[in-house]
Amino acid sequence: MNYRHAFHAGNFADVHKHTVLVALLDRLTRKPKPLFFLDTHAGRGRYDLQSNDARRSNESQQGIDRLRARVPVNADIARYLTLGGLTAGEAQPVTAAYSGSPLLALAALRDGDRVVFVEQQAEEARILRNETRHHRNVSIVCGDGYAALTTWLPPKENRGLVLIDPPFESPKEFDTLASALATFASRWSNGVCAAWYPLKSSRESARFLSTLQQSGIRRILTLELSVRPADSPLGLNGSGMLIINPPWQLDQEMRLAMDEMHATLAAEGATRAKVHWLVGE
Ligand SMILES: C[S@@+](CC[C@H](N)C(=O)[O-])C[C@H]1O[C@@H](n2cnc3c(N)ncnc32)[C@H](O)[C@@H]1O
Repeated sequence: MNYRHAFHAGNFADVHKHTVLVALLDRLTRKPKPLFFLDTHAGRGRYDLQSNDARRSNESQQGIDRLRARVPVNADIARYLTLGGLTAGEAQPVTAAYSGSPLLALAALRDGDRVVFVEQQAEEARILRNETRHHRNVSIVCGDGYAALTTWLPPKENRGLVLIDPPFESPKEFDTLASALATFASRWSNGVCAAWYPLKSSRESARFLSTLQQSGIRRILTLELSVRPADSPLGLNGSGMLIINPPWQLDQEMRLAMDEMHATLAAEGATRAKVHWLVGE
């Protein structure tokens, strides 16, 4: 596997995914009962945006640098910046390390919550172990995140979230993700699951969504943020988050956050931000 998230950290897709992740955890922690959080593709936890890898692609310029240059109106965007330790309203590039999903989740969760991070690359898992060493109730597993769904679900807390954020290097990843979502739903019918998917070719993402529509899984919400016109040959045109069993009113609340992200991050001609119930109750 060649995938290195350091090349992409802080890009528009990270901004989108991480705002949704924080919004989900904020809603789930409103009740005092302990939660379980599983991050199947966790990465290293924190990314240096000044590293050679990050500077080579400079993807954060069109992502986190742009987003935090303005003070956000939306409370969910503001909360994501705060938990990531970023001050809003500063025009210069972010020089601080950028928090990935594990560190954002730990900032949103409480001491009594239980957390499992799975990462396949040994070096990334080692760095993540070091980043999270001061946290209790955290297990770091170096292995396959998809297999972890059968190992860890259903959790004894019976409340919580699974984040599935695959690298999409393999052409089969859409199929693997669709079957992982079926595994999730069969093992933990009332859990919440958030999965990231790329918007590159609309044919591929439409096929993936149609598979899920026919899967029998109920309550699937999709949140799609496009920053370029659909099927533009430049590469990643948009970022999708699919949520099974979203908390109450997340659809309406995320619509506001997505519209603001779109206004800040999208190029002319990009499809509007889309919040859509793929499957209802
Ligand atoms: C998109 S990155 C994850 C970024 C992270 N979720 C974040 O938001 O900060 C995908 C990660 O999955 C890891 N990976 C790839 N295949 C995996 C698998 N089958 N199981 C677990 N991790 C995997 C890669 O090494 C990479 O670190």
